[in-house]
Amino acid sequence: GLSSAAALSRRPASTGAVLRSAVPLPPAFQVPLPLPPVLSGAEIEIVQREVTAEILPGVPTRLWTYGGTFPGPTIESRRGHAVTVAHRNELPVPTVVHLHGGRTPAESDGYPTDLVLPAGWGHAGHGMHDPRAVTSEVTRSYTFPLDQRATMLWYHDHRMDFTAPAIWRGLAGMHIVRDASEESLELPSGVRELPLMIADRAFAADGSLAYPSIDTTLQMHPGVQEPYIAGVLGDVILVNGAPWPVHEVDGARYRLRILNASNARHYDLEAVLDDGRRLDLVQIGADQGLLRAPVIHRNLPIAPAERYDVILDFGQVPVGSRVRIVNRMGSGRARDVMAFSVVRKAADGSRIPEVLSDDLPVWQQSEALRVRDFSFRAGRMGNGHGWLIGGQPFAPDRTDVTTRLGDVEIWRLVADVHHPVHLHLVGFQVLSRGGRAPLPHDAGLKDTVSLRPGESVEIITRFDGYRGRYLFHCHNAEHEDMGMMANLEIT
Ligand code: C2O
Ligand code: CU
Repeated sequence: GLSSAAALSRRPASTGAVLRSAVPLPPAFQVPLPLPPVLSGAEIEIVQREVTAEILPGVPTRLWTYGGTFPGPTIESRRGHAVTVAHRNELPVPTVVHLHGGRTPAESDGYPTDLVLPAGWGHAGHGMHDPRAVTSEVTRSYTFPLDQRATMLWYHDHRMDFTAPAIWRGLAGMHIVRDASEESLELPSGVRELPLMIADRAFAADGSLAYPSIDTTLQMHPGVQEPYIAGVLGDVILVNGAPWPVHEVDGARYRLRILNASNARHYDLEAVLDDGRRLDLVQIGADQGLLRAPVIHRNLPIAPAERYDVILDFGQVPVGSRVRIVNRMGSGRARDVMAFSVVRKAADGSRIPEVLSDDLPVWQQSEALRVRDFSFRAGRMGNGHGWLIGGQPFAPDRTDVTTRLGDVEIWRLVADVHHPVHLHLVGFQVLSRGGRAPLPHDAGLKDTVSLRPGESVEIITRFDGYRGRYLFHCHNAEHEDMGMMANLEIT
């Protein structure tokens, strides 16, 4: 393979070359938008299993799934009503489930070495043993108190060193938390509220999902280092698991709950009519729930793992119009995301209130007990290339940050290339970006913030909720697997 010196001598790219699919791709805006099945209740069971699905018309694709679908079922819960999700692992590999954005006790937060073993490994003579798996089982119950603001979370695999390929193969689903105060707002709801998981993929000649092959020690095979190191990009854009889908809508407001579940791809979304006119994207919520007041965007950048809660008003365009959601940063076919076709006039009883929420926590800089600095940069890891936080790759047994329950802190994050930085357990506010005021899309309470190349971002949060061992990391999934993760101990 390439020597690490060669890999390190080039300035690392933010994202790699796009993997090219080796099967015919369908035209855009033909496949209907799927909506994942919905699960609710205090006790939920999900079987993680392999299925064959037809993502591209006529092409069978093997997937790893939560419950047989990609995305997995959308879990709907209410604030303060705990949910226990029992995950049984019928996949060929160990898994770990993390509820991204959940305010979850550490034992249910899905620590990367806290494995759910494959049910198939129990058989004598299989010969596969993972030394880290001593306390693990084939079914694992995770309890989520969900004592937190209403918002859309997501759940995904989080196994150490293997999160990226597991998410790529299909282990991701959405989880919506609702509450009464949000319901009193008369936002668009029912069929006019759409969870939208955007994720890029590439397909090999046999229909499987193409992914650069790596061996279990993370040694790259010749020729695949570069895309893997930078982060894996595909040439097919899926929304809710369908390629460039189309959805028929009423001429009315819709609430779009957008998640970027891509491993490494950033998008800059716009809503465009066929005549080129752009519609406003009215942001009402961020990763961790409603904003105080709506923010109007012409385009909306979204990094991996970020969510935006957006109102799009199809009542302002004639029936028969098509509204395309496009990625301004994308080239070729990766420019298109999905489309809406406005098929009928309709009454619209929804509204966008001027004040959406009055329970947003606001922390003052004067409350901060300490300021910490973290660099997110490429560097050497073992004999190869790694992505490091503060000069170090992830080590499960090293505590990187210790803080006390209830302390307010300011973190200054600085990046070499694009790194979407995520903190487990807490939401935070962006205080500044590049030494200036935050950007409009930094508004509200976030759990993932997009660091741009060379940029420094300051965030503020209170470490409250639970004591225990949590994580913070880059959410470019390949960067995360290549070391860009650290332990946060709350005592
Ligand atoms: Cu979305 Cu630590 O993860
Ligand atoms: Cu990164």
